[in-house]
Amino acid sequence: MATYDLVVIGTGPGGYVCAVRASQLGMKVAVVEKNATLGGTCLNVGCMPSKALLHASEMFEEAAHSFAKMGVSVSTPKLDLPAMMNFKQQGIDGNVKGVEFLMKKNKIDVLKGTGKILGTGKVEVSADGKSQVVETKNIVIATGSDIARLKGIEIDEKRIVSSTGALSLEKVPQRMLVIGAGVIGLELGSVWRRLGSEVMVVEFLDRILPGMDGEIAKQFQRMLEKQGFAFKLGSKVTGVDACGKTLLAKIEPAAGGAAETIEADVVLVCIGRVPFTDGLGLKEAGVALDNRGRVQIDAHFSTNVKGVYAIGDVVAGPMLAHKAEDEGVAVAEILAGQSGHVNYDVIPGVVYTTPEVSSVGKTEEELKQAGQAYTVGKFPFTANGRSKVNQTTDGFVKILADAKTDRVLGVHIVGREAGEMIHEAVVLMEFGGSAEDLARSCHAHPTRSEAVKEAALAVGKRAIHM
Ligand code: FAD
Ligand code: NAI
Repeated sequence: MATYDLVVIGTGPGGYVCAVRASQLGMKVAVVEKNATLGGTCLNVGCMPSKALLHASEMFEEAAHSFAKMGVSVSTPKLDLPAMMNFKQQGIDGNVKGVEFLMKKNKIDVLKGTGKILGTGKVEVSADGKSQVVETKNIVIATGSDIARLKGIEIDEKRIVSSTGALSLEKVPQRMLVIGAGVIGLELGSVWRRLGSEVMVVEFLDRILPGMDGEIAKQFQRMLEKQGFAFKLGSKVTGVDACGKTLLAKIEPAAGGAAETIEADVVLVCIGRVPFTDGLGLKEAGVALDNRGRVQIDAHFSTNVKGVYAIGDVVAGPMLAHKAEDEGVAVAEILAGQSGHVNYDVIPGVVYTTPEVSSVGKTEEELKQAGQAYTVGKFPFTANGRSKVNQTTDGFVKILADAKTDRVLGVHIVGREAGEMIHEAVVLMEFGGSAEDLARSCHAHPTRSEAVKEAALAVGKRAIHM
């Protein structure tokens, strides 16, 4: 029987990163993966394929609408969807191979099959009707999440799709109905709108992107509407009739009232994700779940069963790849006797649309609710030189700082490249920096990041270019 220091179940960004860090720290490690390929949701049907399609569709739209005004004359671009899907697949393959390489390089055994916890120190791995049991000092559960389903709406991944089906449609739907104005709805809605679909988004709440700063979300919604998105907020889809050639979605006000019927060719259900624990044997092993079906852990990622830990989407917290990765590193370091730690107050979030939305720390709504006194500094990209010359002036930077100490509490950006710009705020906040610290840091000219510095200056009411 093989014996390990650590067996990690799941090879998404949480699991494979945990395994690499544990190996670096001298542990004998194995990973268990039930899918044919490594890399989890993120590499196979999540972050990476969606970003490949976002990039390719953005180029398509730019070629059609932005090149001419810069003096680049091209004939109307034609869509070759199979080639675009091939581009996406090449990106997936490259990244999956990268994880395989990392496993080899770090001498991590890859056990293909479904992992089941038999109790402290024992994992059964089953594939193709055969099973083996491995012994290990520690187990990390990194089994991720699955799509949340809507009662009465059956996903067939052809016409009624989850994000997985929406990443592989065989033709551009004329009308796409998106249920849920969260990250997936806006990212994948953007892909198909750019490729030619009429996109309508139905959202239960009275706003898009719940959890993001309200002012940013409101402005972002206007930008999306200008691009052609239609929104139906405060509404819910109560059923989809898939009998005919056209899908008939029944939509009702969230608060109740008369229903209307909307026709669509594809319906994308993206109302969140749920922790995935099927087949893990948690009940038999006595591993406790919380009231939302997530594996319950303490501050050191430990479950109630000795030697069993959990990280990533399967535990509480934002369902983000970088959060899962950081937890993977932290738990490996804890197992090695170090003080692994994740600062949950400083985890960035990015929506990879055009423009992008990024955020770290507290929103204005959260500060208000907490009764915290704060100052706001804002700077629009219309006043940023680089954005002006590139004619990409949509959006602004918003910095929230403690009214007394000037410590930065939250940074929110809507604008092109917002997902890259947010990281100077992340580092600043990790070091407990102030708006003054940011304002006095030299920023290269001409960059869009100068807008971040100007927003920091605006906290002290001394922005230069506004
Ligand atoms: P996962 O990546 O879900 O990996 C879990 C792995 O465990 C899977 O490979 C699964 O097969 C395996 N597994 C499960 N049970 C067993 C078992 N019993 N035995 C063996 N193997 C098992 N996040 C971002 O930060 N940025 C993004 O841009 C982004 N885009 C996304 C786009 C889409 C369309 C989706 C769906 C998600 C996106 N996410 C994004 C979220 C991100 O994918 C997840 O937060 C991340 O993958 C979670 O990592 P994880 O390691 O916890 O789990
Ligand atoms: P989400 O939680 O971001 O958004 C779901 C939306 O659906 C919410 O606005 C919610 O109010 C709405 N909703 C819920 N029930 C509804 C109903 N019955 N009718 C209408 N609207 C309803 O979830 P999403 O977009 O499915 O993404 C899942 C996870 O994947 C997220 O947690 C996200 O963090 C992660 N992800 C991250 C990305 C990124 O970081 N760029 C990209 C894509 C996904």
